[in-house]
Amino acid sequence: MRSKYVAGNWKMNMDKASAIELAKGLVESVKGLNAKYMIAPPFVYLDAVYQVIKGSNIILGAQDMAATKNGAHTGAVSGEMLKDIGVETVILGHSERRYEFYENDALINKKIHLALESGLDVVLCIGELSSHRIVGVTERICELQIREGLKDVSEEQLSHISIAYEPVWAIGTGKTATPEEAQAVHASVRSVITRLYSPKAAEEIKILYGGSMNDANAEELLAQPDIDGGLIGGASLKVDKFTTICKFASK
Ligand code: 13P
Repeated sequence: MRSKYVAGNWKMNMDKASAIELAKGLVESVKGLNAKYMIAPPFVYLDAVYQVIKGSNIILGAQDMAATKNGAHTGAVSGEMLKDIGVETVILGHSERRYEFYENDALINKKIHLALESGLDVVLCIGELSSHRIVGVTERICELQIREGLKDVSEEQLSHISIAYEPVWAIGTGKTATPEEAQAVHASVRSVITRLYSPKAAEEIKILYGGSMNDANAEELLAQPDIDGGLIGGASLKVDKFTTICKFASK
């Protein structure tokens, strides 16, 4: 039985004081719960948040990383640097990176390999646009993003990877996929992993849902057999809302 995984993607929100305050609140409220918990603050607050959460049951995530190793890459932050300051996992392939920063599957694949080499775990985000869903190619788009994103990733390395299904039309819109819609895609993602790797790998990999998941709809989503957790944006910025979701996952 897979344990659940709840991750908060803070995106480009908070200032230093509120980041510390949110992290402190979460350390207290998530204490004793038994799922896997991760928060991903903006780069500049990673260290401050790490000082608050170290030793707790919340791990530190980053929202992105460079596609190159250390060196002459102005403005970039490497996987090794993230690892060095306490980051354990990195979110890659988020649709905001794909569409705002023109990241494609090949670049995401390169980042995944570098992340794994740096000793980081990965949350690989996939998901369709509403135009894809309308014409019925959701599962094909997700399969392509998985195949390209995980190119040359071994089955052993796959144990360091979770997948987050985030339909782009559901992100920040308040429009969540229904539990049935989400479950259908999650099941198809799991079958892609069976085909690419093995039934064992598919059974073990955590597939999170993201896209307007909140304290009101999380319980029903998390009750679906192939939904192993959530990647939460807006609702991860409030201690009470995020904690409610964390508690559903801990049941
Ligand atoms: P929202 O929960 O704000 O819709 O964001 C989801 C998301 O993109 C998490 O990575």
